[in-house]
This record gives sequence, C-alpha cells and structure tokens, in this order.
Amino acid sequence: MRIYETANYEEMSRKAANILSAQVISKPDSVLGLATGSTPIGMYDQLVEWYNKGDVDFSEVKTVNLDEYKGLARDNDQSYYYFMHKHLFDRVNINPDNTNVPDGTQMDSEKECARYEKLIESMGGVDIQLLGIGRNGHIGFNEPDNCFAKTTHCVDLTESTIEANKRFFASADDVPRQAYTMGIGTIMKAKKILLIVNGEDKADALAKAVYGPVTPEVPASILQFHNDVVIVADQAALSKM
Ligand code: GLP
Repeated sequence: MRIYETANYEEMSRKAANILSAQVISKPDSVLGLATGSTPIGMYDQLVEWYNKGDVDFSEVKTVNLDEYKGLARDNDQSYYYFMHKHLFDRVNINPDNTNVPDGTQMDSEKECARYEKLIESMGGVDIQLLGIGRNGHIGFNEPDNCFAKTTHCVDLTESTIEANKRFFASADDVPRQAYTMGIGTIMKAKKILLIVNGEDKADALAKAVYGPVTPEVPASILQFHNDVVIVADQAALSKM
C-alpha cells in the first residue's frame, strides 16, 4: 500500500488525476472503474482541464461505475448516471457507449446485478478502480456488515449513509433506501486501486481501514489484502494515522 499525503483537497485532486491520466496514457483502452460523491469532483475537473489542453485522450477508454441508487431515473440530478455525465462524460471525448453505470431503473435486482457483474467480466476486468470512503468505512455502497459481499448486489443503505447523503436531496425522506453496488469481491478483482480521501470527518474511517483489523464492519479494511493500492489523502484525512 502506497500512501501519498497532500496539503489539501486541490493537491489530492491533482495527484489522483495524475495517476488516472498515467494509466490512460500508458494504456489508451484502459477500463476505468469510477466513483461518485463529493471527493472525486476536483479530480474530474482536473482531468477535463488536461483533456482541454490536449494532454489526455479518452477516445478509447471504457468505464464502469461502482454503484447507483435503485429507483432513481437517469435524468434525476441525484442519480450517479447524471453525476458522471455532468462531471466527466459530457466534458471529454469519451464514447458514451463505452460508459457503464448500474441501471437504477431496473427494479429486478437479481437481473441487474447479474448483468452488471457479467459486463465487467466481459470487459476483461478493471485496470484501475477509483474509490472514495464513507464515514463508516463503506466503499461503493458496501456498508458495514457481518460478511464481505462478493459480487454486485442490492443493498439497504444505513441510517448513517442516508444522513450523510441527504445534503444532496431536498430532505432525508427523498434519499433512496436501496442501491446497487459492485461487491467487495468485484472491487478486489481490479488490477489497481486508487483510494482518495479528504477531510477530518474521514480520518477515523481511513485509520481503521489502513491500520485496523480486516473486518466487514469496516469494508475498506479489505484493501489491506490487495497488492496494488494507492491512497491519496490530504493532511486532515491522515490526521489519525
Ligand atoms: C457515497 C458513495 C461512495 C462514496 C462515499 C463518500 O455513499 N456511494 O462511493 O465514496 O459515499 O462520499 P463523499 O465523497 O461525498 O464523502
């Protein structure tokens, strides 16, 4: 596990964008596993800036996103489909047919999760998986549990996640109660993992993930078993390590 400490959010975003661009430059048809949330927004902005300067080309890139709320239409501005188009896909030369987000409008969970898992396999696996971390140590929407979920599945969101994510919705009641997410097994199959973390409110979760016991109670702790993890975190997020 390699940990880069940055002074602040801007530096974290630039460093992470450097790592993703290096991947795309060295393998133009990379499969990028992407993430949503407030953490990666600065990194996406940086990638767009470099794309506009002609430094990075997304024309052959393929993407798979980690997760999506179940029951939200794609044009709902809180869907992760909408987020990805707004922050990245619509701003660079990526082929929309090569981008994939779990289909939140498919209400048959089993069918959608099986389809998504197969799709990732058919793409030859993920070259680099970007991750953020939840305050309770969740990755994707893999919430603390008594076992690690293997494949893409449907989850009931915890109160803490609903509480944390309600800032994006009109009220907590509007936050969907379920989501589709890649499983821990799906995430661990990625060849490389890039975890980005900022802010003091993530310091506990990050310290537990890196130095605590490997337990499904802290889903991100599984990353200790992956052989190519890069963490880019700002000083505040690293303050408890
Ligand atoms: C959400 C997402 C995660 C994300 C996490 C942290 O619930 N499903 O993929 O990493 O919360 O979000 P943020 O970056 O906004 O703190």
